[in-house]
Amino acid sequence: MRDLAERRGMNISVYQPAEDSGLLARAAIDRVQGRVLEVGTGSGWVAAQIAERTDADVVASDINPHACRQATERAEKLRAEGQRGFDVVRGNLVEPFRDEAFDTVAFNPPYLPEHPDGTPQDDWMEQALTGGEDGRAVIDPFLDSVGRVLKPDGEALLLVSSLSGYDEVLARAEANGFDHEVAVQESYPFETLTVLALK
Ligand SMILES: C[S@@+](CC[C@H](N)C(=O)[O-])C[C@H]1O[C@@H](n2cnc3c(N)ncnc32)[C@H](O)[C@@H]1O
Repeated sequence: MRDLAERRGMNISVYQPAEDSGLLARAAIDRVQGRVLEVGTGSGWVAAQIAERTDADVVASDINPHACRQATERAEKLRAEGQRGFDVVRGNLVEPFRDEAFDTVAFNPPYLPEHPDGTPQDDWMEQALTGGEDGRAVIDPFLDSVGRVLKPDGEALLLVSSLSGYDEVLARAEANGFDHEVAVQESYPFETLTVLALK
């Protein structure tokens, strides 16, 4: 199935924008300022929305090289159309960036609890969707590290699903010294999605 899709030029290694992407973009467009990092940019759609609809200076990053390629193509297309683009960096969470570099860091993380049989580690789409046994395998290290790259008055925008434990995510954020506000929230048949604004 995958070989056939790839031979036909379909890219199934990169998460494509969905409801969660739209919700993060909505919160970001309302709140961002200055210099913005979108972690886990996937196709680059959220980063492009921020670049197109705000004055922010946008950097997008992802651990997946296929995502970085697709996001770069999107940024180049924006620039070719005479619009402001964004820069793309490959890396793990906020590791590539210097201390206090950003006013806002936005992240729509992999958050689904993995299937009991385990996640195949070489599958980029699985890594885009699933966050270990409890869904928080990527969220927790993000919360532990994002404060370093935020300016003193900066804000993190984190999309949280009820499927990965809202209270547990909040507790981890508080343990890292963040106060929170709900930026946007939507309920769907199987989950509630919230964008937390963390300061
Ligand atoms: C749910 S997708 C979101 C994609 C895009 N931001 C959107 O909203 O449409 C999660 C993204 O996070 C990336 N990701 C997963 N683990 C990461 C890590 N440790 N560091 C950076 N990016 C990561 C995945 O490759 C994937 O592109």
